[in-house]
Amino acid sequence: EKHRPLYGKHVLVTAGPTHEPIDPVRYIANRSSGKQGFAIAAAAAQAGARVTLVAGPVQLETPAGVDRFDVESAREMLAAVEAALPADVAVMVAAVADWRAADLAEQKIKKDSSGEVPPLALAENPDILATLAKSPQRPGLLIGFAAETENVVAHATAKRARKGADWIVANDVSGDVMGGDANTVHIVTAVGSEDWPAMPKAQVARALIERIGQEIETGN
Ligand code: C5P
Repeated sequence: EKHRPLYGKHVLVTAGPTHEPIDPVRYIANRSSGKQGFAIAAAAAQAGARVTLVAGPVQLETPAGVDRFDVESAREMLAAVEAALPADVAVMVAAVADWRAADLAEQKIKKDSSGEVPPLALAENPDILATLAKSPQRPGLLIGFAAETENVVAHATAKRARKGADWIVANDVSGDVMGGDANTVHIVTAVGSEDWPAMPKAQVARALIERIGQEIETGN
């Protein structure tokens, strides 16, 4: 008999980068591969959950048994996340762009023969995790990620409080994590930090889903 600790639960996962359009041919992006978020969605489905995966632009196969919604920008991601509620668990893994272009040019911005460089004004994007934390439909277990290069646990602890998440999965990205296959994480909860050894992203995903199952079952 298969171990299905998340049977009957709805798990919402965000993954990948966002693309913030500047004009019809240009955008602001980041180097997120989406691998960790897709692995978490796959592991949640294997644990018996109904899984909604809201994915930014990535080159990855949809995991078996996962409902996938593709989006481009942070604002589209927020709308897709809100449309997917209610959820028992939300794991926000996406590397959402902090800023978008303040004005979206309807036509391609042309190079000026005078050599003038166009300004790029930025506007702040919505924080999807913080928005969910304040939502009347806040998921019962709300988990954020934090990529840090130093003081990993201290920064993640502050982020947990600031954003209103239950857990922050802090990953040390001082090495070769972005696009790579391994990850070293710390699970920052209300009571402290659980430090996990370095392991492949697929194993981080399975261990996190196992830990989520334990939390749902026992309340800690
Ligand atoms: O503040 P920082 O970007 O490091 O926070 C990372 C966490 O917040 C991740 O869980 C990420 O998915 C989430 N986030 C978000 N919306 C944003 C920025 C970050 O949901 N605009």
